[in-house]
Amino acid sequence: MVKNQFIGIIDSGIGGFSVVRAMRCYLSGENIVYIADPLYFPYGFKTPGELLRIVHPFFSYFSQEDGIKAVITACGTVSSSCLPELRKHFQFPIIGIVEPGAEEAARMTRNGIVAVLATKATVRSSLFKRCIVEHSPSVQVIEEAWPEYIEAVERGEYRSTEHVIKVRRELEKLINKGVDVLVMGCTHFSLISDYFEKLTDGRVKIVDPAVAAVKTLKMSLQKNNMILNGKGELHVLVRGDSSSFQRALASFPGLGYHRVGCFQEKEFADITSSKIYKSNKVLG
Ligand code: DGL
Repeated sequence: MVKNQFIGIIDSGIGGFSVVRAMRCYLSGENIVYIADPLYFPYGFKTPGELLRIVHPFFSYFSQEDGIKAVITACGTVSSSCLPELRKHFQFPIIGIVEPGAEEAARMTRNGIVAVLATKATVRSSLFKRCIVEHSPSVQVIEEAWPEYIEAVERGEYRSTEHVIKVRRELEKLINKGVDVLVMGCTHFSLISDYFEKLTDGRVKIVDPAVAAVKTLKMSLQKNNMILNGKGELHVLVRGDSSSFQRALASFPGLGYHRVGCFQEKEFADITSSKIYKSNKVLG
């Protein structure tokens, strides 16, 4: 590991920007390469095998040339579906969002009832539940898949009346069951955690695994004296059509990024980091 190498962040779409936001707060001098994947969005309906095939090229890209310091899988679905396999294939540290988020949820609940909102694939894996119970065996964990609301966030439409009525109703049901901690088990929800806070009028504590994952990374970099006090550059690469991704990003002011390079599937297989940084396909 070399201090000035980049930190890699991946997600299917804009949700991983919740990790970027946390990086700006806790590790603001680190340079970041963010990869989004509208070509295969949403990840939440894919099997672990499909997901591994889909994200493998990103990790191969990260491992070329100067390499990468660490990667955060800023996606609950990837974090809960294929981390052990990815860790077997690649040498650099790979940090998922589930374990750090689960640990915090177990610590924060007073009623002992935690709800996790995530994708179908994350709920199917039940990794959040297993990790929370590992930390605190008496906690009851309610895991719910909210795929439609994830897609609304990706489209920048999460405040529409139709969605908000439904979301408020479902949140009320959870609060009536005694839930006192709500885990943003999908990073698309992390990105709008303030909005969840508003919708629940502060009656539950919100756990944001994106923040928890960045704190985990910070601890590990600190331990190895690897924290970079650099410019905090952010390079964004998109596989597939970047137009909706860029539109959605624009609806979250303050996430400011350096530039967006857009690549098709075949191209992505052969790009090297030098090609990316010198690319004339830069859009932003
Ligand atoms: N942001 C992702 C997650 O945390 C993926 C959502 C999706 O692509 O379905 O699970």
